[in-house]
Amino acid sequence: MRRLLGWALCLMLLAPGLTRAEQALLGLPPVPVPENNPQTPEKIALGDKLFHDQRFSSTGEVSCATCHDVQKAFTDSPLKVSEGIEKLTGTRNAPTVINSAYYTTLFWDGRSPDLEDQSIHPFVNPVEMGLANHEPILAIVRNDPEYVAAFQQVFGKSGEQITLTEVIQAIAAFERTIVAGDTPFDRWYFAGDGRGMSTAAKRGFEVFIGQGRCVSCHVIEQTQALFTDNRFHNIGVGINNIQQEVPELAGAFLKAKAEGIDVDVAVLTDSKTSELGRFAITDQFDDMGAFKTSTLRNIALTAPYMHDGSLATLRDVVVHYNNGGFSKEGEQVNAFLSGGIRPLNLSEQQIDDLVAFMETLTSPQFVQTASAERN
Ligand code: HEC
Ligand code: HEC
Repeated sequence: MRRLLGWALCLMLLAPGLTRAEQALLGLPPVPVPENNPQTPEKIALGDKLFHDQRFSSTGEVSCATCHDVQKAFTDSPLKVSEGIEKLTGTRNAPTVINSAYYTTLFWDGRSPDLEDQSIHPFVNPVEMGLANHEPILAIVRNDPEYVAAFQQVFGKSGEQITLTEVIQAIAAFERTIVAGDTPFDRWYFAGDGRGMSTAAKRGFEVFIGQGRCVSCHVIEQTQALFTDNRFHNIGVGINNIQQEVPELAGAFLKAKAEGIDVDVAVLTDSKTSELGRFAITDQFDDMGAFKTSTLRNIALTAPYMHDGSLATLRDVVVHYNNGGFSKEGEQVNAFLSGGIRPLNLSEQQIDDLVAFMETLTSPQFVQTASAERN
């Protein structure tokens, strides 16, 4: 119920008669929508229902929303790595679905090309929703009267005509409405209204674009800010600790891949394989330990951080960068570290200011749902 209430709050912030994808929010470009999957209100509502349906898991207890919960800014914060069926744990931290419509690839290693393809995988991942194949989903949507009516209305299809394609299209259409801009930062930077920005946050912005060099990957443009370059970088998280094993791990992985293992399953069930990052997709050593630059929008609500959830707070993140790509005393940076990561020589105050800046990237609807949950 709370989830629905929270969601209704978000919907109330929309101008009547517009679906979110059509409405550009302050700080964000219009949402890209593929030609073969246009947005309609009915399709979005169907996708919302599918996203929350726990029957699409082997135990009947896990839905997409289990790990992407609106009350937690569409993550499972404060979990380090996600828990699926029977509390089985994966290897990676659940990224937010908010603004994922803007990414040019999905997942931390970019192994999926679009939102439609992305949602195929969790259903059948053994540590997520655990289905053996997609047939149980089709059995439900072809027979449950509410779904039968909805698929007929949205796609003009029934019975065997309904396939996984329609299911994933509806989910993706729903996800393309989970967009959020209009933060205190957006109002200040793009609309000249600085009321939500403290002096510390403004100083933090200067560090972000200056000495901290954050903006070189977490991009801010003249009229919009996605806070990502949609590229992959090794910033020294995770792989620093296993670098001696990399040649052996890489060799074993390439062999297994040639033999046809499922990469989605491999990276989410083996923590060392997970650390290969983008390499596991491209087989290029340049991509070793590299992960997708995350958006920083709503970052204050989604701790812990990084692909493995290894950094607990935003301050820990900034200290990691300030050190030049390591977190713990005595840790050696790995040989594949991005050239963009080097010691920053930030003062304690600059570190605090950067954190204050990142705290201004929270969209109003998620502040409201987070505080509604606390009450
Ligand atoms: C058990 C928890 C869990 C469930 C259930 C789950 N996810 Fe996720 N989701 C994750 C994790 C963890 C990742 C990151 C995995 C990776 O990058 O390898 C992720 C990644 C994503 C991404 C990519 C975001 C980005 O920044 O690239 C999207 C979109 C997403 N999930 C949507 C869904 C949808 C839709 C469903 C239901 C069909 C779903 N998830 C089910 C945990 C979960
Ligand atoms: C060379 C590119 C690059 C630079 C420079 C950079 N980042 Fe990142 N950032 C990334 C990548 C890539 C990730 C994801 C890495 C991972 O999970 O292993 C990330 C992750 C993060 C995260 C965690 C996101 C999440 O959802 O868990 C935060 C916060 C962050 N960066 C803040 C900053 C700040 C602040 C600076 C400047 C001090 C900065 N970044 C500089 C590329 C960069």
